[in-house]
Parts: sequence; C-alpha cells; structure tokens
Amino acid sequence: MSNKQITVTDIMDKKKTKIPITMLTAYDYPTALLVDKAGIDIILVGDSLAMVVLGYQDTVSISIEEMLHHIKAVTRVAKNSFVIGDMPFGSYNISVKDAVANAVRFMKEGRVSGVKLEGGQEMALTIEAIVKAGIPVQGHIGLTPQTIAALGGFKVQGKSAEAAKKLIQDAKALENAGCFSIVLEAIPAEISKKITESISIPTIGIGAGADCDGQVLVLHDMIGLFDRFTPKFVKRYASISKTISDAIKEYKKDVENKKFPQAQHSFSISDEELKKL
Ligand code: KIV
Repeated sequence: MSNKQITVTDIMDKKKTKIPITMLTAYDYPTALLVDKAGIDIILVGDSLAMVVLGYQDTVSISIEEMLHHIKAVTRVAKNSFVIGDMPFGSYNISVKDAVANAVRFMKEGRVSGVKLEGGQEMALTIEAIVKAGIPVQGHIGLTPQTIAALGGFKVQGKSAEAAKKLIQDAKALENAGCFSIVLEAIPAEISKKITESISIPTIGIGAGADCDGQVLVLHDMIGLFDRFTPKFVKRYASISKTISDAIKEYKKDVENKKFPQAQHSFSISDEELKKL
C-alpha cells in the first residue's frame, strides 16, 4: 500500500462514488499500526478509550491531556488513515473560544487530521468557528455518550417521529456548519437512511443500519477485548481476551513447571571465559 494519507476530499468523494467508508477506533501504537496497515479510511482516537482502555465508568471524566497522550501514539504511526481526535466532554462545551483553542491543540500537539465532537444544532456555532480555523470537523448525533445523563441512559435515539425530525434537522445544521461527515449512533435504520439521503456529506453509522455511507466500530468491542458489555450493534470478529488469557495461563504453567525459559531463550558465555571466574 502507498503511504498517501487519506484526505477530507477522499472521504467526501466516497459518498459520491458510493464506496462505503471504513472507520475504527485505535488508541495506541500497536492497534493504530494494525488498523492503518489494513487500509481502514479513518482512525478515530475515540473518547471510548476512557472506558475500554483506562477503566473509567463512562466517557465524561477523560481529560484533554489523557486524549492527547493516546492521540500522539496513534499519529506517530498512522501513515495512510485519516486520524480524528475525539474532543472530550468539557473541551468544547464551555465557550466557542475554548473549543477552537482545544481543537488547535489537537492539531498542533496531536497532529490529527481532524476532530470529532458530539451534539446537534446547539453545536453549530462552535463547529463553524473550528472549521473557520481550518480544522476539519466530524459531527456525532443520536446516542451521544458524553451526555448520557441527559439522555437517560444508553438508549436508541430518534424512535418517535418528533425525535427523528429533530435528528434530521440536527444533521442539516451540522452540514451547514461545515462538518465533513457525521457519526450516527444508535438510530433506527430507517431514520439513518433518511438522514443519509437528505445531506451531501457522508454519514458513518454505529448501530444505525446498513444505509449509512460508512460504518464505525470500537476496535476493542469487535475483537472481544472489552469485558463489561457488548452492544447489540457490535459484530464480534475475534475473541482476543481468550487468546491473551490462554497465553498468560500457559506462561504461568511453564514458569512454575520450569519449562520456560529453555536454551533458545537464554544467553551463554564461552567455556574459556567461564573457567576464568
Ligand atoms: O469514542 C468513540 O469511540 C466514538 C465512536 C463510538 C463513534 O465516539
């Protein structure tokens, strides 16, 4: 594969040519390397890392510094994928000025290709300002985990006609504000289809049906490396927890039974030097 980094234009063109956009999370060097080498279009350094890597109960507590620490590990290695840094709760909701300053930090210190933030019409002015600063913005509507307390829990969104209408208006507002794509999370498939058909920028679904312009999953969910819960919309492609756990148990047994290390894992000194001791 060539080392040409995917651009906003490449991503937006995929909607026109109807080529599905692929997006996965990665939070560190080894996972970013694998995702990048597999040719995935977009790597999201999602704030889901708060839960699946750092062990927080939700995504609310993670800080800009913690996000940047992981973003830097990913951008050091990603050569092809477009890398998006997820702006954490509180980094864009206090004032437009703060939001632009924090997005700029993600670009300058994190070297991301763009940022993502959650919210609909109420975020339009903030998004406009970040886009004006020259930073590509991906929107995120539907189930927005950072405001889970206000949504009343991890629930499918847009199930009434009124709620669905609001989601369609939110998507239009994000398009008008200058977003280059929008994540649709946990939305009925019929509503995602309507949104996808009503805007000119790509939609990327997670639990939003097959008619979005692309799909995203949390890597740790799809490879079976997060133990707390697996949402209905996740397809499990591997059981990595079991593979790691089996390897650890085997290592423990080998050490306790003196089967590891063996000669090939050890270093030696010549007999001549040994005799001089
Ligand atoms: O943080 C994250 O991983 C996300 C995805 C669920 C889209 O926002």
